[in-house]
Amino acid sequence: MIHLDFTNMLAPAVKGGVAKSDWAKGTRLFAKARKVFEQRREANELGFLEVPDDAALHAQSTDFVKRTRGKFDDVVVLGIGGSALGPIALRTALRKPNWNLLDAGEREMRPRLHVLDNLDPATIAALLSRLKLERALFIVTSKSGGTAETMAQYLVVRERLEREKMAARDHLVFVTDPAKGALRPLAQKDGIPALDIPPNVGGRFSVLSPVGILPAALIGIDTAKLLQGAAEMGRIGVTDDLGVNPAGAFATLQFLADTKAGKHIHVLMPYNDALRDMAAWFVQLWAESLGKVMQKGRKNVGPTPLGALGATDQHSQVQLFMEGPADKTVTFISVPRRDKEDVPIPALHKDIAELAYLGGHSLGEVLDIERRATAGALARRGRPNMTLELDAVDPWHVGALMMLLECATIYAGALYDVNPLDQPGVELGKQFTYAMLGRADADAARREWETLPKPNPKFRV
Ligand code: PA5
Repeated sequence: MIHLDFTNMLAPAVKGGVAKSDWAKGTRLFAKARKVFEQRREANELGFLEVPDDAALHAQSTDFVKRTRGKFDDVVVLGIGGSALGPIALRTALRKPNWNLLDAGEREMRPRLHVLDNLDPATIAALLSRLKLERALFIVTSKSGGTAETMAQYLVVRERLEREKMAARDHLVFVTDPAKGALRPLAQKDGIPALDIPPNVGGRFSVLSPVGILPAALIGIDTAKLLQGAAEMGRIGVTDDLGVNPAGAFATLQFLADTKAGKHIHVLMPYNDALRDMAAWFVQLWAESLGKVMQKGRKNVGPTPLGALGATDQHSQVQLFMEGPADKTVTFISVPRRDKEDVPIPALHKDIAELAYLGGHSLGEVLDIERRATAGALARRGRPNMTLELDAVDPWHVGALMMLLECATIYAGALYDVNPLDQPGVELGKQFTYAMLGRADADAARREWETLPKPNPKFRV
């Protein structure tokens, strides 16, 4: 199970925390957020909640995996944002470390998984030159079926396949909206398999649809368990009682910390390498969903999420968290150490004080003690923090964690009075890109682009 311990979020015990009087209002605030959540659910906007129980959708991925088993050594996801961060987080969390460096036996004869989430030509050229194309599968993932970065990657790969005389339908699979976008008609025309992202599931909420499930299933992750964990948390995440709903408590506390206690930056800091990419996934979810103009007040709002990793970032960001501006909350993720995976620290050099105290402990024990020490030190300095406690990093808990944070994001959207499901702020940059690339329908953007100040040599050093 997953629990949220927020002892260190509340004042006066932690000086900069959420005042008891504000937290007392949390129940009423959350009741309002629940209402908005239910309105969105009734309006059929929260498809991510239904995805874990959708057996037919799950089967689209597992059937594809069965049909193609043994055919590929390398799977490459072409996608960006919500189409990329989920698959990366799942691979890191639920496969052995350095999965792509293991040999086929260590990978249980499953393929490597690469996620090309950028357009950097050096990265793409390097991967394409390394792959055996005849043993490679490219998953083109785009909800809209029109994102410039992903479409550009697709064009590069498609031409490469054609050049090497390989049938597109044997090496490509699309994951996209069931009806909209450029990929669907292409799939129909060329017989390329295409899996669905339900229309009411947006990019950053799509990890439990084929966006994350297809790559996860291809590399042997137990996707049934992943979905079970998500489904169970989906049920907990819609309960009205803040005392049993960690998604509601997380959102309400973060909102109060931001708006009442000046904690505008929300750090997620797992103490577990397997969860390091979960922080990047959360950062997108929280940032793109909540950084908005309020629906009623027209005010600009939204917390700034930040990812960190314990203990690594104790030697990087924790100094800032402790003594920099008092504008942050830190949410740790803890996982109990498992003795069978732990590494004992040998008791050598008993005469050297800096080494002697470590002997007889274990690496996992020290890591966990460091997490508790950091949480305690932050609390002592009046820096609010809380801990998401996972019983294990396994498919069930990872599915549950992702669902918890997705539900929390919808609640936070309601509390901030923004629409957590859209992203209008990225549109203008896209339009300017289209204008500069000469896209036919970008005349208005081209005119607007022309009105911008030109680079001035006076302001260049
Ligand atoms: O969360 C979102 O909606 C975005 O980050 C998208 O995932 C990203 O822009 C990619 O969009 P698409 O899946 O349509 O290619």
